[in-house]
Amino acid sequence: MRTDWTDLPKELRTQIEAHTGSIDRIVPAPTGNHADIASTLETSDGRVFVKAARKLEDRDGPEVMSLRREAAVNPAVCEYAPRLRWQAETEGWLALGFDHVQGRPADFSAGSPDLEILAKTVHALQSAPCPDVPMLSGGKRWQKFADDPAPFEGVTLLHTDLNEDNFLITDQGRAFVIDWAFVTRGAAWLELALLIPWLIKAGHTPQAADEWVSQFTSWGDAPPADLDMFSAAFAEQWRTASQVRDDAWITRHADLTARWAAYRLKE
Ligand SMILES: Nc1ncnc2c1ncn2[C@@H]1O[C@H](COP(=O)(O)OP(=O)(O)O)[C@@H](O)[C@H]1O
Ligand SMILES: [Mg+2]
Repeated sequence: MRTDWTDLPKELRTQIEAHTGSIDRIVPAPTGNHADIASTLETSDGRVFVKAARKLEDRDGPEVMSLRREAAVNPAVCEYAPRLRWQAETEGWLALGFDHVQGRPADFSAGSPDLEILAKTVHALQSAPCPDVPMLSGGKRWQKFADDPAPFEGVTLLHTDLNEDNFLITDQGRAFVIDWAFVTRGAAWLELALLIPWLIKAGHTPQAADEWVSQFTSWGDAPPADLDMFSAAFAEQWRTASQVRDDAWITRHADLTARWAAYRLKE
């Protein structure tokens, strides 16, 4: 659930304005669903994109931790991501100010030219150095759902949430990968496995999605049994989530991941 800008503590707004100058207009983002605030600020100096989250009473809480991960990884991924300009932290809130990207969300449907841009970006990301900053771990994220999570471990920098809304494309055809909230260190092929439900959502069959990701070396190099095991763990993660929370996007993700697992496991 997003928060209204005017509900932010006054001191936080003052600190943000110290960075941006006076704000003429605030335009909340139409997509995304994690940070409490995700808005474009129009200022006399141009646009800046702000994400902010509220801490829990006595600690950071998941949304603030996500923002801290985004901030920590940003210098290492500036080739792909909008640059982090500043941070503001006060009154139990953390806010990050990013370069604003004038772009449209990607289209991952079959035949879309964006798929080539996606492939190029993912190829580059797969061999990008993984910085030594706090991140989630591929092994730990799915340990609850797999008998042996060791194959999910690795040293590759993974975005892990490459959905169409997190992949902005400018009029010049430049791609920006945004929303590094779930940045993870793990096995390279995990990035591709996590992309599969988004490809299926865009209309690919599970088989076509699985074949599309097989263009990446890490996929071909991964033991098929590990991919099968992950497909089952991934589906189980979202089946469980859909039982805990009645949310349309969670139900849909449970369905998408179940379809891929059924294809892999020939159910
Ligand atoms: N730097 C940016 N410039 C322009 N729009 C952005 C920028 N970052 C995010 N957005 C827009 O805001 C939406 C939500 O941001 P995102 O980082 O994905 O947050 P969430 O964690 O809430 O999903 C994105 O889907 C995109 O439309
Ligand atoms: Mg997002």
